[in-house]
Amino acid sequence: MINDVQNKLTSFPIQAFQQDLINWYLAEKRDLPWRKDQDPYKVWVSEIMLQQTRVDTVIPYFNAFITKFPTITALADADEEDVLKAWEGLGYYSRVRNLQAAVREVKETYGGKVPNSPEEISKLKGVGPYTKGAILSIAYNIPEPAVDGNVMRVLSRILSIWEDIAKTKTRKIFEEVTYELISKEDPSSFNQAVMELGALICTPTSPKCLLCPVREHCTAFEEGVQADLPIKSKKKKPKPLQMAAAVLYDNKGNFYIHKRPPAGLLANLWEHPNLELDSVSGKTYREQLGEFLATEYNIDAELSELSGTVQHVFSHLIWNISVFIGKVKNASDTQLILVTEEELQKYAFPVSHQKIYQIYKES
Ligand code: ADE
Repeated sequence: MINDVQNKLTSFPIQAFQQDLINWYLAEKRDLPWRKDQDPYKVWVSEIMLQQTRVDTVIPYFNAFITKFPTITALADADEEDVLKAWEGLGYYSRVRNLQAAVREVKETYGGKVPNSPEEISKLKGVGPYTKGAILSIAYNIPEPAVDGNVMRVLSRILSIWEDIAKTKTRKIFEEVTYELISKEDPSSFNQAVMELGALICTPTSPKCLLCPVREHCTAFEEGVQADLPIKSKKKKPKPLQMAAAVLYDNKGNFYIHKRPPAGLLANLWEHPNLELDSVSGKTYREQLGEFLATEYNIDAELSELSGTVQHVFSHLIWNISVFIGKVKNASDTQLILVTEEELQKYAFPVSHQKIYQIYKES
């Protein structure tokens, strides 16, 4: 470990810190649906959902997901289409594709029981160091670190650590710190307490230090630098793309939709036919879309004037989508699938394409 961090730990009152933190957690913890029991499957689902997604957003998805897929077996045996549908709107869909693949592995290789060894659990798809630590500590009470950005923020303040938390290698430093700090009697409460402190008290901006149960152990508070920590360098800006999409309907009120490829962005989700536009071609968006539908999908459609626009921001991309409505004249040899309005509701669409459909509904 970095010498400087090691020195800080040597003079740190670990026991008192654990006690103050855990006592506060046990008294103040939020009543969250995944805290009702320690079922490793439910802990796993919740931790996957909570990566990149806020607690308030996760709660209804978690409840619906567990009702639909209450056990490892239920999720392993489910149709991927239904699983994606249950994740619709949460984003980062590879999370749930990996989760289902991993759950199938648990069913086949581990008799349906989530393994409780760091080596075995780490081999499962989508189970990185954070998820591994979260499941082992919360469900099995094993003293493993579960370090995400929130935990790094809290600990960087407690010990006044000035490493850049946006750098991949920094997580290791905080894992080593957590191995030292974690309660060996109650690692489950300890890790959840750090998360809870990060969510309720030790927030990214305006931390509520006057309410903090471990203020007297906090080096950043003592130094008056809590607002300057953590150090987090800026990620590069997402790149804007100009796109066009068509909501294609036929004279019976059915819709032509497309399934995205099995790998890459929004893999296996459904969408309204769309393309990335060329800004130097001299052709209008509508012309480019019409030619694309004809050459790519053998669709001859009468396209509307621009019906609306949709923007969706991903971590690395921004989609700026111009939306057109197309009455299909001929689709005799298309690979798009034709669905009724009712069937449309059964497929998982990215939020941007739900908005595209909304524009059609309102037109
Ligand atoms: N964020 C990540 N894991 C969490 C948990 N178990 N409870 C609340 N917030 C969290």
